[in-house]
Parts: sequence; C-alpha cells; structure tokens
Amino acid sequence: MNILAIETSCDETAIAVVVVKNIESKVNFKILGNNISSQIKIHTQYGGVFPMMAKREHTKNIFNVFKKVLREANLFSTYKKDIKLSAQRNKELNKILEKEPKLYDNFIEGITKIRKPKIDAIAVTIGPGLEPALWVGINFAKALSKYWDIPIIPVNHMEGHIFSIFPKKSKSFVINKKDGLFPMLSLLVSGGHTELVLIKDWMKYKKIGQTRDDAAGEAFDKVARMLGLPYPGGPEISRLAEMERKSEDKMLDFSRSDSSSSLIRGPEKSNILSKQVHFPRPMINSKDYDFSFSGLKTAVLYYLRDNKIREKDKPKVAKEFENAVVETLVYKTIKAIREYQIKTLIVGGGVSANRYLQKMMKEEVQKLKLSSLTTQKIKIYFPSKKLTGDNALMIAIAGYFQYQNKKMAKNINLIKAKGNLSL
Ligand code: KG4
Ligand code: ZN
Repeated sequence: MNILAIETSCDETAIAVVVVKNIESKVNFKILGNNISSQIKIHTQYGGVFPMMAKREHTKNIFNVFKKVLREANLFSTYKKDIKLSAQRNKELNKILEKEPKLYDNFIEGITKIRKPKIDAIAVTIGPGLEPALWVGINFAKALSKYWDIPIIPVNHMEGHIFSIFPKKSKSFVINKKDGLFPMLSLLVSGGHTELVLIKDWMKYKKIGQTRDDAAGEAFDKVARMLGLPYPGGPEISRLAEMERKSEDKMLDFSRSDSSSSLIRGPEKSNILSKQVHFPRPMINSKDYDFSFSGLKTAVLYYLRDNKIREKDKPKVAKEFENAVVETLVYKTIKAIREYQIKTLIVGGGVSANRYLQKMMKEEVQKLKLSSLTTQKIKIYFPSKKLTGDNALMIAIAGYFQYQNKKMAKNINLIKAKGNLSL
C-alpha cells in the first residue's frame, strides 16, 4: 500500500510518500518521496517559534510541498482541463479549510488539476505539538481525504520519533517484527519533550520518566539565547562545546608533550581547570526516572549575571552546560536499562542529533555490556542525521503500524489537534 504522511507539529512542513509491503513478519518500506520545508530562517529572526507564525508558514507552504513530493514519487499527473468542482464539494472543502483561507485558495486552485494519485491512506500528526500548527496538517489531510476519498490514520508525533531510527541511507528498509528487540527503551529528547519510554512490544508504551519542567531541547534553546546565540540553540551550543573540548585536549597534549616547560605549563593549566565553570546535574540522584532542566537553566543565568564573561569564555559555559544535560540524560537512561534489562535503546527527537550525547551514550552502554550488571546484548540506535529533527517519513512508518493496529479514523470530522497528546 502507498501512504502519504503529513507532519506540521512545529516549524517544519513535511510530507512523505512510502510504499509498504508486509511479508510475514517483515515490513518492507520504500521511500518514494520525502520533503521538508523548514521555517527555521523565519523563527531565527525572532529567537523562537511563535505558534501563529508557524501556522501561517505551514498554510503558505503545504500545498507546494505536497506537489513536490507527488512529483518526486512519480505520482503527479494533471488533467488536460481543470475539473469543475460541484457546489456541494466546494462547500465541504470550504468548511474544512475555513480557518486557513490561504490554503483553501491554493487547494481549490491546485487540486482540481491533479489526477488522483495511488495513495491508500493519509497518516497525519495530531499531537503533541503547537495546536495552530498541527491544525494545518490535519485540515489539509481532511481536505485530501474528502476530495479523493482516502482514509486518515492519526499519528502521535513521539511515536514517529521512535520509528525514526529504522530508515538508513538507502531508499528501502525493512522492519522485522520478530527481530527480538524487546524490552526496548526509548529516550525521547526534543524541544517540547524529554521522556523515557519502556516498550515491551510493538506499540505498547509505558512512560517511566519525564521532565518536570523544561525539555532538554528547550533548555538548549534558552541557554543559547542567554549566550546571544541564534535559534535553534542546540546545534550552536554543541558547536561551541566541541570547540572547547578540542582546545582543552590540545592544551593537555601540549603540557604533556613539552616536559621541559611542564613546570611552567602545569600550574597554569591546573589554574585554568580549577577556575572552570560548574553547573548542577539536576535530579541525577533522584530515585525515579524524571528529569528537570529549569534549575540548570537558572544556574547558567546566575553564572552569567555574576561573572562578566567575554566572547572567548562562552565555549566554556556551553561545554559545562552540555555536560550537565548529557550526563543527566545518560545516567538515568543507563539506570533504566539495568533495571528493566533492556535489549534495545532508541534515542530520538531533535536533541538526539547531539554528538556528545551520542558519544557518551554509546560509551556508557558499552561499559554496561562489559560489566556483570546486565545479561543482555544491548543494541543502541540513533536516527540518521536527516531524521533526528521533525520529518514526515517517521510519521509514515508509525502510521503504517497504526494502520495494522486498525487505528484508522472512522469519522474524519472527529480528528482534532491535541497539543498535549501523550504516548
Ligand atoms: O524534535 P525536534 O526537531 O522538534 C520538536 O519536536 O521539538 O527538536 C528540536 C529541538 C530544539 O530544541 C533544538 O535546539 C534541539 O532539538 N537540537 C539539539 C541539537 N540539534 C537540535 N539539541 C542539542 N544538540 C543538537 N545538536
Ligand atoms: Zn519532534
């Protein structure tokens, strides 16, 4: 079957088309089209994502992204003459898109020229996310569904992030349902979420921990702002932190290799290290699997208030902040892997792009495997670079599993955006 997937939960307008063939336990996917129109440049100017602005951009862009993906998938063909829309149909579509008049115009203008493509179901993100943004994708899905009579599969965005680890570099990939991946643990870290999810079987989720205040990505974004770095903050902080680690390594090498000057270099070096910034590792010793990043953010704020830092000191702050976030995430994840004797760890969401998080998590999982604390051969998966952020391919995969689970919408009029939807 062919699935068209739509994702508009935050600041990416994303659409993908996949062909899925299920042969016994193996689910074979082929990516026909996968397109993202990013709004980051617009939001960077304002230092963050404003929901109404995100909605406006989705409304403007979604029909073009849709056409691009159909072309890429070789599913785009037009009629010689426009098809006339009946008054009844027009009224229905107008009602569905009444809150997105610009999209309604684009839709009516464009859709009447396009032949119905071979699409068997439309998967769409219904939450969690920014509601005005989610509604654009949902209403677009409803309009397509009504116009071409295609069923809709509502999808949870976080479930999408879990499934985002399966596609690799090539256009095709297989998910073998009998691969023995369970019990599985997923650390989901994004701009809006930080949670640890225990997965005992396909689609069976139990949240065992979550942030009590800010999400990890949100903390990265806020601290970046304090340091005068642009939105999104995660990649910027990470860049500075890596720079700092490299320069510290160089200094260490230098003081080690140059033994004649070590008497001079040594104390100077230790002086630099002792002056280094230190931030707390919030809730690292709490008995549960919850997180908290708001105190850490405040610690950075106070540090910046009390110490006049110069441009060249910023990498130190970035490094120590990143260390604090990563250590906390890794520590609790490893603790959960031990307690639940996890076989597969999946890290997903925007923050999973963080190189230091990837490195530390892999190292600690490796240490655990070598210890006697687990009997499992733990496998660890991160999404490929292009799929760490929001995309529609992950929604297509999660959508197919929901379809197999018979979670098709019975009445599309009842589909609603759910900003706080939980797994
Ligand atoms: O999953 P995502 O694209 O959107 C949401 O659903 O929130 O995540 C976006 C978040 C932003 O907060 C961004 O700063 C963060 O992911 N992020 C990173 C990195 N790349 C993106 N955080 C830390 N290190 C990165 N390399
Ligand atoms: Zn996301």
